[in-house]
Amino acid sequence: MTPSSDTTSILSRRDFFKASGLTIGASALANVKVPHVFAQGSDQLRIALIGCGGRGTGAVVNALGQKMSLKLVAMADVFQQKLDNSYKSIKAKFPDQVDVSDDHKFIGFDGYKHAMDCLRKGDIAIFTTPLAFRWVHFKYAIEKGLHVFMEKPITADGPTSRRMLELAKQASAKNLKVGVGLMSRHSHAMQELYKRIQDGEIGDINFMRGYRMQGIIGSAFSEPWPGEPKELLWQISRFHSFLWASGGAFSDFYIHHVDHLCWLKNAWPVKCHGVGGRTFRTAPSGKPYVDQNLDSYSVEYTFQDGTKLFMDGRCMNGALPIYSSYAHGSKGMAIVSKSGDCGRPSSTYKGQNPSKENMLWTSPDPKVADDPYFNEWEDLTDAIRNDKPYNEVERGVMASLVTSMGRYATHTAQEVTLDEMLNHEHEYAPDADKFTMDSPAPVLADANGLYPVPEPGRKTKREY
Ligand SMILES: NC(=O)c1ccc[n+]([C@@H]2O[C@H](COP(=O)([O-])OP(=O)(O)OC[C@H]3O[C@@H](n4cnc5c(N)ncnc54)[C@H](O)[C@@H]3O)[C@@H](O)[C@H]2O)c1
Repeated sequence: MTPSSDTTSILSRRDFFKASGLTIGASALANVKVPHVFAQGSDQLRIALIGCGGRGTGAVVNALGQKMSLKLVAMADVFQQKLDNSYKSIKAKFPDQVDVSDDHKFIGFDGYKHAMDCLRKGDIAIFTTPLAFRWVHFKYAIEKGLHVFMEKPITADGPTSRRMLELAKQASAKNLKVGVGLMSRHSHAMQELYKRIQDGEIGDINFMRGYRMQGIIGSAFSEPWPGEPKELLWQISRFHSFLWASGGAFSDFYIHHVDHLCWLKNAWPVKCHGVGGRTFRTAPSGKPYVDQNLDSYSVEYTFQDGTKLFMDGRCMNGALPIYSSYAHGSKGMAIVSKSGDCGRPSSTYKGQNPSKENMLWTSPDPKVADDPYFNEWEDLTDAIRNDKPYNEVERGVMASLVTSMGRYATHTAQEVTLDEMLNHEHEYAPDADKFTMDSPAPVLADANGLYPVPEPGRKTKREY
């Protein structure tokens, strides 16, 4: 793997390996007084939604349900239909907190600017497009002095990871509050588990396991581009298929387990290798699958102290489904997520057998309210209201980078270090800030409709 010419360490070694801290910006700025950024002239903050799909709609619903009075005033997307559906759904739930006139609805790649232009300094922008546009939108939000909530993952390659780390510092320097949708860390059950593990309940962590093995989901598997909409827009609508748009199935689906297991360990792994393959390349229709994903991944991450994290992912109909995570310590073990990305109950056990008799602790009944998607907004709005340091971008980048490292290592069949991943020169969606509706897609189909795909062991210096 070739490092870029700029291999200067963006983070100190300490920052680099530590997974628990909230912000680089906040710690760096601990002694610097920066003004509280709160929109003037109203108790009610305004929100702009950029990327009006499933998660964007959900994030606005989480936001409007908070104690802090918020109002949705602008929306942007690249598809009219997506924006219209999202608007209708949010308006039906919060009729009094949605005031998006037609001239505040924007379609196109520059829509993000217009939507954020509808906000005042100290209002909130939500970024829920596929990740390729995170740095573009974040940069503008910082210029405008806006607080931000952005969905995971936030980068898929080295250059944009470095860029986002720099932007994170700029946001903290302006005292902007930034939430990143790695919601496990806002689950109260997992926060209690984190505390118990730090207090030594299961001893020193020796190894951890994450599994997200399921059928074919999202837009991870694609048949050839049907010719419309334009290739760029089609790839965006099938973003799980394309590494430039999403980091692919590995980044998009497996990041939550990678993130919360690293959090429990208080560190980021320093290297990894992985095995993976693509068993079926033909769709039931008989057409070829043209996406850039493998269907099976198994990555072995290694931490500085030798601890291992194993992450298994699979998208295959009919195969054994497992969707959970575990931490094993010198005295006992923990079921971290029983089911799903951060599904309760979390629990701890003496020894390595998670039986009822061995149970030390279990989180409250799943019926007790603890919705991490709601909690992450509660934490963000609390930080805005009470001017608390709050910037989750560094850890969001690191979780994204560690996930990308696992994907890259499997796709190339090489051992890859975190330093190498961070300093790699291949940018997957260059000029994402200049896209128009007529721009060519970052990867183009060949005469057979096929896209460049990973070839483990053959393509070793670049992923595809
Ligand atoms: N935290 C979680 O559990 C969770 C769950 C689901 C999705 N997500 C994340 O949220 C993001 C969106 O996922 P989704 O499932 O909502 O996808 P989606 O396709 O439903 O929504 C994405 C929307 O963004 C729009 N869009 C794409 N590029 C745009 C651009 N440049 N400008 C404006 N709009 C643009 C698309 O047209 C679409 O409407 C992804 O990064 C995904 O990983 C997170």
